[in-house]
Amino acid sequence: MSSEPFTIKWGILATGGIAKTFCKDLLTDPASRGVSDVRHEIVAVASSSSADRAAGFIKDIDGPASAKTYGSYAELVADANVDIIYVATPHSHHFQNTMLCLEAGKNVLCEKAFTVTATQAKKLVETAKAKNLFLMEAVWTRYFPLSIKIRELIQSGAIGNVYRTTADLSLNKNADNGSLSFDDTNRMVNVDLAGGALLDLGIYSLTWVFQTLYHTQPEAVKEAPQVVASINTYTTGADEQTAVICRFPGHKRMGIATTSLRVGTDPDGHQSGGPAIRIQGSKGEIQVMHPAYQPRQYKVVKADGGGTVEVVDCPIPKDPKRDWGHGMFWEADECARCLRDGKKESASMPWSESIVIMETMEAALTQGGIKYPEVITSDSYDANSPLNTGNK
Ligand SMILES: NC(=O)c1ccc[n+]([C@@H]2O[C@H](COP(=O)([O-])OP(=O)(O)OC[C@H]3O[C@@H](n4cnc5c(N)ncnc54)[C@H](OP(=O)(O)O)[C@@H]3O)[C@@H](O)[C@H]2O)c1
Repeated sequence: MSSEPFTIKWGILATGGIAKTFCKDLLTDPASRGVSDVRHEIVAVASSSSADRAAGFIKDIDGPASAKTYGSYAELVADANVDIIYVATPHSHHFQNTMLCLEAGKNVLCEKAFTVTATQAKKLVETAKAKNLFLMEAVWTRYFPLSIKIRELIQSGAIGNVYRTTADLSLNKNADNGSLSFDDTNRMVNVDLAGGALLDLGIYSLTWVFQTLYHTQPEAVKEAPQVVASINTYTTGADEQTAVICRFPGHKRMGIATTSLRVGTDPDGHQSGGPAIRIQGSKGEIQVMHPAYQPRQYKVVKADGGGTVEVVDCPIPKDPKRDWGHGMFWEADECARCLRDGKKESASMPWSESIVIMETMEAALTQGGIKYPEVITSDSYDANSPLNTGNK
């Protein structure tokens, strides 16, 4: 007996680059990735700039003409037809925007980095809990079948006891004049928008450290890392090159997460730099190829002297009609299943883990001397904050 798929109705908050990518994935046919139990609808889009911008966004993604378009985030959160809101503003805005949604009684999927500070992350979780709402940090990589398989391999002992993970996500963004190839106002380097390598790219290196060394620890003996970090700072005050060592002494584990805007993990675009991630155990290692955020191949190398290397390709399915598929649909499917099943948090990206990761990044940024302005580090919610009202 076949039953109708469970449908969730998405409201999209912000109309930038990643919102476009995410929405195109929402519009793909779930059957193209073998999914039949859930489906997605985009029912409303809000731009803080203008309703026209929201309408242009829907046209650009070939989205449904029926979707409502709003010129403010406040109107979107008041739309009774919206089940869940995808927050896709710069990280500087995540705390205020997600609070705006939660206060209006909306479930939320919020882009990474979850917040700017750990206290903000805790406050979002407390609010979701108090209001009985679903909340998830949009760490899409965790929902890739490749990530799920690698977590299973670790837990089944395929590489013995896991002791160390090294993970890098770095992009060579040098300009010819010694600067980086971003305007100082660009969100990648602008401290007013919580710019810098760690919160934007390094979070993926940390995702691999955490999903292999922390997430796989049994609940009863869960151990947050001791953190030592070092940072090179760009002229804007944002971090341009950062290394974070996470030590889990109780589990004899160590993770080294690196990120850079000066050199690339994959210098020639042909994987000549070797694996981006190495998960090392007593009986071998798992190597994951670049990019850490959208991995499509891993290798299992056994420490048995046999020289066997298993290479596993995990292509991202494309919707043939749209000729599109980026891999963000898997996290959207997780949101749909959580809403269907009445779950308030995702087991693959639990609230407690988002908080520990924010604590780790905050510790690293503090050790490296990075300072962000008070308006974006405040944990005092204000519906009328310029972060909620305006990019006009
Ligand atoms: N998961 C991923 O793979 C991935 C990839 C890239 C980025 N991200 C994350 O997604 C978030 C957005 O990144 P993005 O690349 O989409 O950024 P973007 O292209 O700059 O878009 C950000 C959007 O936020 C809104 N916004 C509101 N106030 C703003 C302000 N003061 N300055 C700039 N934008 C403002 C704007 O939309 P309106 O004018 O319509 O309000 C803007 O289009 C970041 O947190 C980033 O880390 C995730």
